[in-house]
Amino acid sequence: MTYVAKHEPLKCHRCGACMELVACPGADEMVCIGCGACVITCPHQAIELITSKREKKISIYVNEEKFKVPELISVKEALVELGYQIKDHFAESGLFAPCQIGGCYSCVMMIDGKAKPICITRVREGMKINTTLPREYTPLRIVTNFTGHPTGGVGTPWEFKTGQDIIEVGCYAAGCNFRCPTCQNWFVTYLGREEPKTPYEAAKILSEVRKDYGVDRMFISGGECTLNKPWLVQFIRELKKLNPDPAAHFHVDTNGSLLDFAYLDELMEAGMTDIGIDLKALQTETFMHITGLQGKTKAEKFKETAWKAVNYLVNTYEGKVFVGVGIPYNKELITLEEITMMGRQLLKISPFLQVSVLNYRGEFRKNIAIPTTKEMKEVFQVLKDTGLKNVTVQTKNGIIGPRGK
Ligand code: FES
Repeated sequence: MTYVAKHEPLKCHRCGACMELVACPGADEMVCIGCGACVITCPHQAIELITSKREKKISIYVNEEKFKVPELISVKEALVELGYQIKDHFAESGLFAPCQIGGCYSCVMMIDGKAKPICITRVREGMKINTTLPREYTPLRIVTNFTGHPTGGVGTPWEFKTGQDIIEVGCYAAGCNFRCPTCQNWFVTYLGREEPKTPYEAAKILSEVRKDYGVDRMFISGGECTLNKPWLVQFIRELKKLNPDPAAHFHVDTNGSLLDFAYLDELMEAGMTDIGIDLKALQTETFMHITGLQGKTKAEKFKETAWKAVNYLVNTYEGKVFVGVGIPYNKELITLEEITMMGRQLLKISPFLQVSVLNYRGEFRKNIAIPTTKEMKEVFQVLKDTGLKNVTVQTKNGIIGPRGK
């Protein structure tokens, strides 16, 4: 099946996202290859994919074997036409293409001798695709906004959060495997129109920014920074190499959905010292509602993996890694009862776990009012009442922490 994007002018707000963020593979020649990157990115859902028949066929070479595929499609779609399967992170074989907007570079293959993301690369007559990356390939990823931060992230210990001084420096990786209608950082999440960086380049920039700000903590967030495992592991390893002093901290903020035990072990071995895992929900229906994920089995797997990751880190690496847990709150997304149930589950892992509740506001595709300070105080209270000792909540007027404001 081939597709083409259909623009609905009446829904369009002319916000510019499709021009500024989307790495449209057909933009130069004003053709659409139906990759869907603009559909995923448009905050107003003014673009949809409709089926379209591509009569003309072109020849491509996959691992030196010649095939005929429809013209004006992405390499990923061409490979699917040829029988390749799309896989999730956990499967042994198949194409791993979690973001679909050209941000994470997990789907990179060698195309005419260059490493390119297959989700947003257009097939061309005579194109040579090699599905195996060469040994010397250095992972790539779009990573942006290297700067100082006054509040850090979910994996920042509460004591540091003065809200005034810069306490961490960080950067943000593009691409996500979730489709949260309230994505709180969608300008980065859906950013495909930027040159990717190697882990060495990104670690060097962040280390320089650390020097500029004179802080010890360095973080990476997103988007979802864990999508491209070789990139992230190498990035942390390189950061540690460039910052060998004992005060340096390497902090990963993530949705945790891909962090199986082997991945966590690799991050720990690379030098990760702090991690914030955003758990989103306890019930699968709520999780799907918040993340925009469609398939129940996949959503459940992601949710369970994130919860297990918290448990594993706390029990296996006690004293070696700081673990913070994030929970989004907005009454439109999750009930206080479910927050309470989450608190009870987290208590079983450790009463001293830092649990940060983020006051989700209307962003991206969902327009919801930011919770009032009174509502966030209620959330704080129900979590404290479960017995958790280290709860913080974000309010419009600042952070409430274990020892008050
Ligand atoms: S799936 Fe292609 S870049 Fe992320």
